[in-house]
Parts: sequence; C-alpha cells; structure tokens
Amino acid sequence: MSTAALPGPLRYFAAQLDELGPGDVPDMDRVGRLLAGLAADTEFFAPLIAAIPAEAPGDRWLIRPERGPRLVLVHRPEGVMGYTHSHRCWVGIAPVRGVETHQRWHADRHQDGRADLRLADERTLHRGDVATLIPPRDVHNHGHVPGTGPSPYSLILLGDDMLLFDREEYDPDRGTWRALPPGDPGRANR
Ligand SMILES: [Fe+2]
Repeated sequence: MSTAALPGPLRYFAAQLDELGPGDVPDMDRVGRLLAGLAADTEFFAPLIAAIPAEAPGDRWLIRPERGPRLVLVHRPEGVMGYTHSHRCWVGIAPVRGVETHQRWHADRHQDGRADLRLADERTLHRGDVATLIPPRDVHNHGHVPGTGPSPYSLILLGDDMLLFDREEYDPDRGTWRALPPGDPGRANR
C-alpha cells in the first residue's frame, strides 16, 4: 500500500515506523512512543471519533496494507470489555480519548478446553499512555470498566494481519479457551 495517499499525521507516523527498519519485532519502546505521539493529535482524531457513536462498539481502519504494520481506531462503549485473545504478532495500544483498561494474562491451555488464566498486568490507560505486547506474551483484553472515566477511543497498532494466524480466545470468567483458525476474528465484546 502506498502511504502517499494517507492524511499527513498518518503518513508521518507510517514513515517513522518504516525507519525502525525490518525485523520481526521492532524496538517496542520506540513503537510505543510513536503511537502515543500520534494519539496526542486530538485535532486530527476529533472528526474520526465523532463518526463513531459513543453508545455502540465501533472501529475505523486508518492504515491497512496487505502485510506488515496496520493501525485501527477502536471504540468500546460504557462497561464493555473484549474477550481475552492472543495475536501471534506484536501489538501497541494507546488511547486518544477516554480511559482504556488493559489486562495482560498468563495463559496455560489444556486439551479439554480449560485454561489456567492468571492476570499478569492490569493498567488504566489515558492519553499519553501506551501498552505493548510481543508474542508469546501477547494474551490480553481491553475495554471499559465503569467508574474509570469516559469510554475509550484507542489506537491499536498490529505488527501484521493477525487474521492470517492460528490464535486463541479465552474466557477468564469460565476458565476456558478455544482455537481461532485464520480468518476468525473471535467474539468482539463480552
Ligand atoms: Fe488484541
């Protein structure tokens, strides 16, 4: 995909990402700083956020090449968390507006569908904050927890098209997991 057609802030961001060079996993601290820097451009994101109603889940792809890093703006409404899932690629997440609760999990899968899930890290992300994940420690969920603040609109940067990979989805409440074959995005919200 040519980045020449992208709006200025996204073109600049894509160029900066490009400068990190080839490799399976870039310097995630630098990736995180770039992502938080982009998320700070509230003027650019205001109309994109306005196009996603606050009451319902929604997303808007911003950079989506065939392979390699891609960027999406994701909104979850009041009190809605996603299912826990793996990616099999690196990930960065940074709120533009609102408060995103981010949980990373240790997950041990059993053949019978049970999973031992232990919360490894929980953070309440505001604009300026960023969470990054690198496989195999890439099992997370995120969304909105009532009482934390306004529901989030967040940038999610993925190192590749995760739908090309075999992934897993977990239900921490039930202690279960299921395989997500390539192409299966899993359940969006719980
Ligand atoms: Fe994710």
